Amino acid sequence: MASPVPSVSELVAEACRVFEQSFGGDGPEVAVCAPGRVNLIGEHTDYNQGFVLPMALPLVTVIVGSATSGQSISIITAAKDVEEPRRVDFDLPNDKAPLSPGKPSWANYVKGVVQHYRAPPVPGFRAVIASSVPVGGGLSSSASLEVAMYTFIQQLKPDDGDTVAKAVACQKAEHTHAGVPCGIMDQFVSVLGREAHALLIDCRSLEATPVPLSDPELVILISNSNVKHSLTGSEYPSRRKQCEEAAAILGKASLRDATLKDLEDAKSQMDGETYRRACHVIEEIARTAQAAEALKKGAYTEFGRLMVESHTSLRDLYEVSCKELDELVSAAMEVEGVFGSRMTGGGFGGCTVTLLQAGAVDRTMNHIQVRRNIQVYTHTYIPTHTHARFIE
Ligand code: ADP
Ligand code: GAL
Repeated sequence: MASPVPSVSELVAEACRVFEQSFGGDGPEVAVCAPGRVNLIGEHTDYNQGFVLPMALPLVTVIVGSATSGQSISIITAAKDVEEPRRVDFDLPNDKAPLSPGKPSWANYVKGVVQHYRAPPVPGFRAVIASSVPVGGGLSSSASLEVAMYTFIQQLKPDDGDTVAKAVACQKAEHTHAGVPCGIMDQFVSVLGREAHALLIDCRSLEATPVPLSDPELVILISNSNVKHSLTGSEYPSRRKQCEEAAAILGKASLRDATLKDLEDAKSQMDGETYRRACHVIEEIARTAQAAEALKKGAYTEFGRLMVESHTSLRDLYEVSCKELDELVSAAMEVEGVFGSRMTGGGFGGCTVTLLQAGAVDRTMNHIQVRRNIQVYTHTYIPTHTHARFIE
């Protein structure tokens, strides 16, 4: 059964309804939105100063609200699958009393952004969040919430408009208040992503190159394994630490500066696991640069091959995949017209991303559902038409 993704205006209408029911009086004065993302290739490379190639999605987080004359913030989320309560009230921070993380955990993303806003003091406000990004599904519901929150505050009290600094402030919010030592990819593409383009981000220089992705013959298919990942678990930070250890052994500022030869030469100085982690990162950075070139040339077969290599490396060397993601990738790769498929995002659940011919979409979705013998939640995005639908 296909059901459409709610449009931005439907989400705004939903958020306005909740706002009026909860706060009474006049409706909200401001409405903003920020997209979730899917990463086409370049996984676990951002915090190693490497390349990533994500694209913004037509799945978005919307925030509506109004400034108040008070010294507090009231925020409500319309999301069903977050920790209760879904309304939180807290005082504005000041130098003596900064905002610290607490319960419910979803409010920490809001508190972090308020705390790191680049043009303090933030005025008091009331706001409601509504989103079409699946929560905890690996499509960056959290980064889209942070960026929407930052954009909302910008409407009440503008900063200097520096977009890269905005992404960095949102990343900082995730570090300090959500406790996830994430890289810059998700927040960066949520701020700077463009419709019908992927974004090649150099996570060392923080320069980004839009890569057109508007061939009507091509589809990006996102399949949700329905396994919820938890990035606050120990796996993500431990991968990050292993990469830092490997870079230190190689005498490099980051693995971006290392070659496979450097790694081979130092193999005896590190344990096998650290070696494998570093090997994934060094190869994945090179793969991502190569994949961006392939995409520019329309060389989809080559791009697809690189996607599969990326998945294999994430599964075997970086060890962040899981059975369900591997099954989704294998099932997709059995279908004629599929160029490539891989897990996307941090891993341990979440989604896969598949590049395929537009004519192969229906048979690929059917095949994935039959092969896995369970209902798969699938999201199709056809860049040129901004066409999206969910299959359940
Ligand atoms: P994702 O890959 O979706 O970003 P994360 O585990 O990084 O997954 O972040 C998910 C968390 O972000 C949720 O558990 C919740 O705390 C917060 N979050 C995301 N979207 C919303 C929303 N619409 N309303 C409230 N909290 C949200
Ligand atoms: C998460 C994280 C990103 C990136 C990714 C793996 O999505 O937020 O910064 O490290 O995992 O590529």
